[in-house]
Amino acid sequence: MSLKNTAERWGSVSQLLHWTIAVLILAIGTVGLVMGELPRSPKWFWVYTLHKSLGLTVLALVLVRIAWRLYAGACPPVPGTPRWQARLASLTHAAIYGLILAMPLSGWLYDSASGLRPFRWFGLAEVPKLSPPNEALAGAMHSTHELLFWVLLALVAGHAGAALYHHFIRRDATLARMLPRGWIATPTRSPPEDSA
Ligand code: HEM
Ligand code: HEM
Repeated sequence: MSLKNTAERWGSVSQLLHWTIAVLILAIGTVGLVMGELPRSPKWFWVYTLHKSLGLTVLALVLVRIAWRLYAGACPPVPGTPRWQARLASLTHAAIYGLILAMPLSGWLYDSASGLRPFRWFGLAEVPKLSPPNEALAGAMHSTHELLFWVLLALVAGHAGAALYHHFIRRDATLARMLPRGWIATPTRSPPEDSA
């Protein structure tokens, strides 16, 4: 499999980054929602540290992904995709990129402005604060962090739904080309006539 993207398929680097980031975000979001319900006792602080450490890891991976995207480009829409769908997909992808950057940044700013004790990334290295304690900023970033997650989740639901629609209804290669060759069969039927 090629490392770089080609006109037909996403390369292995783009695929690896896409699925790693997707799984991490869904796991971090779930931990985020659950940890709010935990008793605020030192016994559970590791869950917060795990959430924050994974979140900063996603931030680094998203920066790598954006750099790779600028270097390796993107696959063009699969032949036969109506132009409005391709436009909507590009807009959704751009919004998702913005959100997956804003999620960890808002969390980091919230953590910084709350004046909490510094935490160590997976217990290994102390993470610097982005701002001095600031109650108003902490409140705003807390709401932003939560709101952005629901917006991201709604977009990702539409995004995943679109991928499944392409695979099962339009029966084109959109989903198969984001997965390693042979993981799922590329549908063989040609796209409908009316889609040009
Ligand atoms: C948190 C979860 C997810 C995030 C953040 C995410 C993000 C993205 C982004 C930003 C792109 C655009 C890539 C680019 O143009 O550089 C993309 C492409 C893609 N995603 Fe996701 N995604 C997620 C989950 C999923 C799921 C669950 C599926 C499938 C069920 C999926 C299927 C695809 C496919 C097939 C493409 C390629 C589209 C094309 O070739 O035009 N994604 N994803
Ligand atoms: C992709 C990255 C991230 C995602 C998807 C995410 C998601 C979430 C979600 C869904 C919540 C629950 C919101 C609520 O119900 O109030 C949450 C809470 C929280 N997040 Fe994140 N987060 C991410 C990164 C970060 C980072 C990098 C930090 C800090 C460095 C952070 C710090 C926090 C804190 C402290 C809370 C608890 C808020 C509270 O209840 O007091 N998050 N996060």
